[in-house]
Amino acid sequence: MILRPLRSMDLSLFLLLLSLSIPALALEDPFDCHFQVNGLKYDLTPLAGEHTVTRERATPPTREVDSVRLSLCSDLATQKDVSDPDQCPLGTRVCLTKINRKDDTDRIVSVIPIAQTSTLNPSYTPLSSPKGVSILFHGASYPHPINATDAEQSVNITLLCTPESESEEPEPKFISYNGELLELEWSSRAGCNFAGEDKDGNKGETPEDGGSSESSSLSSVGWFLLLVFVAFAIYMSAGAYYNYSTYGASGIDLIPHRDFWMEVPYMLRDVVSHLCSTVRPRRSSSHRGGYIAV
Ligand SMILES: *[C@@H]1O[C@H](CO)[C@@H](O)[C@H](O)[C@H]1NC(C)=O
Ligand SMILES: *[C@@H]1O[C@H](CO)[C@@H](O)[C@H](O)[C@H]1NC(C)=O
Repeated sequence: MILRPLRSMDLSLFLLLLSLSIPALALEDPFDCHFQVNGLKYDLTPLAGEHTVTRERATPPTREVDSVRLSLCSDLATQKDVSDPDQCPLGTRVCLTKINRKDDTDRIVSVIPIAQTSTLNPSYTPLSSPKGVSILFHGASYPHPINATDAEQSVNITLLCTPESESEEPEPKFISYNGELLELEWSSRAGCNFAGEDKDGNKGETPEDGGSSESSSLSSVGWFLLLVFVAFAIYMSAGAYYNYSTYGASGIDLIPHRDFWMEVPYMLRDVVSHLCSTVRPRRSSSHRGGYIAV
């Protein structure tokens, strides 16, 4: 009988799989442009993608340009031609850049992550006249221009319900920025609510009729688990087919990487005892010994 050290490769692979699945389960769903408020549904996907709004003001002898890049449904992409300190970090959805312009020379003076996925904490307020909805997103802290104390940044995007028109989607408008709150306005059909079942027709009037709406969509955790399950099923059947066609295996030998899967229960036990031994003093005598028979 050959003894060999417990295969730390397998153990680390197992731990890797475990650690990949835990954060995916623990993460909150990032905002995906679908939300409900007071039983009214909104779908902001027509506004997806990157948009830019600018405001330019004379501050002689220079001009001050405020440029907002926003992407509501996903994180902004990094800009290739801009150095890192001159752009918002990864995970930003609304980024305000203040530029000072003199004789056609631009100097970036502030880069402010106004809304970030990790701190987004969205809230919604339906508006009745004019009809629409306002959404509030949160971001990082940034020194206030008046007293340089850290101010939590946020953006209030007022979406005004305008029926679909033949022209292309209008772009957002810059309303104001006071050092902590950025106000934008956007006229779009995405500002109109719809009752869940009536997505294409009759937008905007009927509040939805209670419970029937929740069932239709899987959460992203649900999708993740389904994906893992499907991947596992494909792996098992492809592996079994391979073992069958290559080695003529049958029965339990069909399981791909059989040795690995047979060890999983022991690995779990090892993981648990490792975790416990960091809390309690190690009892080396009753330990599994770190060797397995092959
Ligand atoms: C800094 O100035 C802003 C705007 O005037 C104000 O809202 C904020 O409370 C001030 N912070 C401190 C610490 O004084
Ligand atoms: C956002 O803007 C809308 C429309 O101007 C206003 O009704 C709402 O109170 C604002 N929300 C916040 C948090 O400022």
